[in-house]
Amino acid sequence: MYLEKIELKNFKNYESEIINFSDKINFITGENGSGKTNLLDAIYYLSFTKSAFNKVDENNIKNNGDFFSIKGNYKIDNKPISIDCKYKKNEKKTILYNQSPYEKISLHLGRIPAIIVAPNDSDLIRNSSYYRRRFFDLIISQIEQDYLQAIIKYNKIIKSRNLVLEKFKKKKYVDKNEIQHYDDLLIQLNIYIRNKRSKYLIDFKKKFFEIYDSITKEKHEIEITYKSKVEESIDENIFNKFLDYDILTKKTNFGIHKDDYLFYINNKPIKNFASQGQQKSFIISLKMSEYYIISEKLSISPLMMLDDIFDKLDNKRISDLMKFIKNKIKGQIFITDALNDRIKIFNSKDYNMNIISIKNGEINFNEKK
Ligand SMILES: Nc1ncnc2c1ncn2[C@@H]1O[C@H](COP(=O)(O)OP(=O)(O)OP(=O)(O)O)[C@@H](O)[C@H]1O
Ligand SMILES: [Mg+2]
Repeated sequence: MYLEKIELKNFKNYESEIINFSDKINFITGENGSGKTNLLDAIYYLSFTKSAFNKVDENNIKNNGDFFSIKGNYKIDNKPISIDCKYKKNEKKTILYNQSPYEKISLHLGRIPAIIVAPNDSDLIRNSSYYRRRFFDLIISQIEQDYLQAIIKYNKIIKSRNLVLEKFKKKKYVDKNEIQHYDDLLIQLNIYIRNKRSKYLIDFKKKFFEIYDSITKEKHEIEITYKSKVEESIDENIFNKFLDYDILTKKTNFGIHKDDYLFYINNKPIKNFASQGQQKSFIISLKMSEYYIISEKLSISPLMMLDDIFDKLDNKRISDLMKFIKNKIKGQIFITDALNDRIKIFNSKDYNMNIISIKNGEINFNEKK
């Protein structure tokens, strides 16, 4: 699978551009603020129906406009596929797959699997459990639509249940029958989601240890564990046990929305005990494992977007990383780098690539090397 061409209208700092890509490596260069990350974000948008960086669609419209659109032409097993996405202020966005709309936009996820490696990935280690759950959820959701639909349904029920809790607190009464309806639905969903998360982590870890070992010279003991209060089976009264506390906090305190994944290096939490370089290796291993598990389960090579990964690396490490990428990633790759000189580090004859130079949201040149 690869993206042949993208057409942007009023997306972030792009007014109107058509960009053709190589089916292998696309090296995107340009000064800070020229629009390199925005271009990756447009590619991301076509896969995930949202921006990787800005969840408010209105902010993705080029200043003062009232709409943006992104169109992508792909080849999947040599068949042409088109994805059209349009967002107009105060209207629902539309996503068309080969000109047909989806019944629900979420059904698009997994059609064009993609992975982005970006500087804000450090959130996975440094930030709250939300980022780790989202990381693993996006992997499973791209592979299994049913999982995504279960998560969507779960989140809706939690939202409604929390409103009921709030009402109980405000009006100072409790109607167990009213809340029971939600609890029954949540028990099944909790077990389903917990089991999927736990099963996927086993497969994920097999790849992860292998990749981490291949990219780091030093030998560390690393570990990822899944932490959930939800067991393989759940006591039917579990929500009753939490009810008083739930009403007090106006929140549901039991369930998979509280899960976390713990990352360890030499038996200690990675957040506090790993150096920046070790954290970087850990994160790259997470992302590469994501790549492999999706390729394997869907039998398709996802699009790989690498944003600013060379930053702070010396020439030797950049050259090693490029070799690793070239040998290990079979599908299409998009790499951004503000320093166009860096391209000289790898002999471009070895890499079938396009060099795309951007200046202020416009294509300066797009050359095959
Ligand atoms: N909605 C928008 N309308 C107009 N311009 C926008 C919008 N959103 C972002 N931008 C502009 O896009 C530019 C940032 O682009 P981007 O993040 O893609 O740069 P970059 O080339 O990746 O830079 P760097 O090398 O620093 O990472 C900024 O100048 C920002 O003001
Ligand atoms: Mg950038």
